[in-house]
Order: sequence, then C-alpha cells, then structure tokens
Amino acid sequence: MITSRILLSTALAAALAGGLSLGATAGGHGGNPAVDARQGQFQIMALNIGVLGNMARGNTDYDAGAAQAAANNLLTISQLDQQFHWPEGTDNASIEGTRALPAIWEDGSRVLEIWGEFGTGAEGLAAVAGDGLDAMRAALGPVGASCGSCHDDYRASDN
Ligand code: HEC
Repeated sequence: MITSRILLSTALAAALAGGLSLGATAGGHGGNPAVDARQGQFQIMALNIGVLGNMARGNTDYDAGAAQAAANNLLTISQLDQQFHWPEGTDNASIEGTRALPAIWEDGSRVLEIWGEFGTGAEGLAAVAGDGLDAMRAALGPVGASCGSCHDDYRASDN
C-alpha cells in the first residue's frame, strides 16, 4: 500500500512535468494522471482496433467510411508524444493501478521502438483502410502484432 502523501506527490510531479495546472489534474479518483492518460490512450486504441477487428472477422459488415475513421484514430493516437505518459516510478512495482512492468524503464528497453512499430503499422493501415475488406485486413496484421509484442514484454498479465 502506498500512502496518500506519496500518491499526491507523484500526482504533483506528473502534473508539473506535464506543465499542467494542478487544479485540473490533482484529485479525481486518486489515479496518477500519467497512468490515467496512457491507459486512456490504450482504451481508445482498443475501441478503434475493435471496430476493424470485427469487420476483419466478419462479425460486422465492412464499411469503408467507418474503417477509415477507425484507422485514422489509431494513426492519431500513434502520433501522441509519449514522454509525459511514462514518468519514472510509475511501474507496477512502485505504485498500484498500473500493469506497466519495470522493464519499460530498464536499459535496453524496446518499448519506444515497439511504439514506433505501432505507428508504422497505423500509417500503413490508414493508407488502405477505406480500399476494401481485403486491403484493410492485410494492413491490420502489423498493428495487431505491435500490440501483442509490447504486451508480452512490458505489460503485466493482471493487476
Ligand atoms: C509500446 C508498448 C505498447 C503497445 C504498442 C501497445 N500497448 Fe497496450 N499497454 C501497454 C502497457 C505497458 C500497458 C499497461 C499500462 C498501465 O497499466 O499503466 C497497456 C495497457 C493496455 C490496455 C489496458 C488499459 C487500461 O485501461 O488499463 C489495453 C486495452 C491495451 N493496452 C490495448 C492495446 C492495443 C489494442 C494496442 C494496439 C493497437 C496496444 N495496446 C499497443 C503497452 C503497449
């Protein structure tokens, strides 16, 4: 268990690192703002890749406009600069409420490289997502692979 004093100072440090006003970030449900932000970005990614995955598996009809919109959203998220989302001391050995493994911050971490692979995949996907089911499905593969390879090495399997 961590004390509320440590939680608060972590929140403050994250707020200051992000250059944000304290009023907008301290408090809430007690989460760390950087952790909340990165988990939020992953939720947006999951929602949008879910739209495409359902089309790819035939659970929903392919819709070029919806496929393009979901791919564009993935590309947009991939372009968020990650530096404020991963402050030191926000691994799952240091705080609660995160599945981020300490390996992310260790020497030789490939986490940003894999984030880059996600971005390259999202670019390829956004280029063809509206061009038909087969083109979208083929381009979805590398994006899905980037999710899995990062989770394998850098995300704890449970809370
Ligand atoms: C570069 C590494 C990396 C990539 C790429 C990545 N993830 Fe993650 N993901 C993580 C880590 C680390 C966490 C744990 C974050 C935390 O709990 O602080 C996570 C957490 C999540 C969560 C849980 C969020 C929550 O609310 O706790 C979801 C859902 C998720 N990822 C989906 C995806 C999807 C879908 C993709 C691909 C489109 C993806 N991720 C790509 C590293 C990655």
